[in-house]
Amino acid sequence: MKPVILAGGTGSRLWPKSRAALPKQFLALTSEQTMLQETVTRLKGTDSEAPVFICNEAHRFLVAEQLRVQNIAHDGILLEPVGRNTAPAIALAALHATQGGEDPVLLVLAADHLIKDTHAFHTAIDKAEKLAKAGKLVTFGIVPDQPHTGYGYIKAGDGIDNGYVVDEFVEKPNMDTAEKYVASGKYFWNSGMFMFKASRYLEELEKYNPEILAVCKQAIETESPDLDFIRVDADVFAGCPDDSIDYAVMEKTDSAAMVPLDAGWSDVGSWSSLWETAEKDTRGNVVVGDAILEGVNNSYINAEQRLISVIGLDDVVVVETKDAIMVAHKDKVQDIKNVVNRLKAEQ
Ligand code: GDD
Ligand code: MG
Repeated sequence: MKPVILAGGTGSRLWPKSRAALPKQFLALTSEQTMLQETVTRLKGTDSEAPVFICNEAHRFLVAEQLRVQNIAHDGILLEPVGRNTAPAIALAALHATQGGEDPVLLVLAADHLIKDTHAFHTAIDKAEKLAKAGKLVTFGIVPDQPHTGYGYIKAGDGIDNGYVVDEFVEKPNMDTAEKYVASGKYFWNSGMFMFKASRYLEELEKYNPEILAVCKQAIETESPDLDFIRVDADVFAGCPDDSIDYAVMEKTDSAAMVPLDAGWSDVGSWSSLWETAEKDTRGNVVVGDAILEGVNNSYINAEQRLISVIGLDDVVVVETKDAIMVAHKDKVQDIKNVVNRLKAEQ
C-alpha cells in the first residue's frame, strides 16, 4: 500500500500561527513533530511503502527539509504550480504511481490531521485495504458529535466484510440537513482520508470528471524530475478544473465503501478543535508557552515569544506570535478567516 500525502492546504483558520508561507501541516501543533511528520510516523507498523507527497511548489523546500531531518523516505514530492483542490492532486499522484505499469493501493492522507489512537487507525487501514483490493473506493467514517457543516456526511448502508456500503455521500450539507443527519444516527463524517487502487480512482474520475483526468494526464506527461521534486506542466495544469475528490468522485461513485474509524481523529480545523483535543488543566485551560492566568476557564492560550496574562475571562483563545496577537471568543474562531481575508485585501 502506497500512502499519498496531501500537503497543499492553507490552514487559514489557524492564523496567526499558520501563514501562507508556513501553513498548519508544517507546524508542530499537537506534538514535537510537525503535522506532516506525524502523518508519516503514524504509519510505522503498517505495510506501507515510501509515500508520495503532493504540495504547492512554494512549499517544496519545507517538505523536503521536514522529511530529511527525520530520515523519512519518499517516492517523490509532486509539485503543484497552482492549487486545484484534491481531485486533481490525487489524480496526479495516482498517475505518477501507475507510471511503471503498477497499480498500487493508495492510502490518501491529509498532512494536517490528528489521530490519537494509532492502533485503532492501523486496524481500520487493514480493513480498508481489503475493500480497496476488491475495487472499492473506501472512506473512513467518524461518528459525529455535532452538526458540523464543514464535513462530508456518509450514510452507511448494508454491512459487508470489513465495513459498509455507502448509501449516500453528501459533501458539506447545510445546517438543517446536517442536524437531521446527526439526529438520525445513520450518518458518519467523512474523515477526508481514502483508500483505493490507483486505477479505480482514475476510472471513476474518467467516468464523472473526464476533464480533470485529461488535464492531469497531459500535465504529468512531461513530468520532469528535479532533485526530489517532480514538476508538472504549469500552463496545462493551470487549466485544470478546481474540484475536491468529495464532489468530483465520492458523491457520484457507486463503488464507495466505508470503514468506521474511532481513533480520536480530528482535522484540527480551528483553535477550538485544538483546545478540544488537547489535555486540559483542572479549569479546562490549555496553555502552550508562558502564561499567567487568574480566574480563567475553558480557554486556549498559546504564547510563542512573550508572556501572556489573562484575568477573569472564560472561553477565550489567545494566540501570540512575533508579529501578531489574536484574541477571540472560543465560539467565534471560525471567523478568523475574515481577518485573513482582510489582511489579504490590504496587501
Ligand atoms: N496537494 C494538495 N493540493 N492538497 C490539498 C489541496 C490541493 O490543491 N487542497 C486541499 N489539500 C489538502 C489539505 O491540506 C487537507 O489536508 C486536505 O487536502 C483536505 O482539504 P481541505 O481543504 O482541508 O478539505 P475540507 O476540510 O474542506 O474537506 C475535506 O475534509 C473533511 C475532513 O477534514 C472533505 O474530504 C470533507 O468531506 C471532510 O469531511
Ligand atoms: Mg480540512
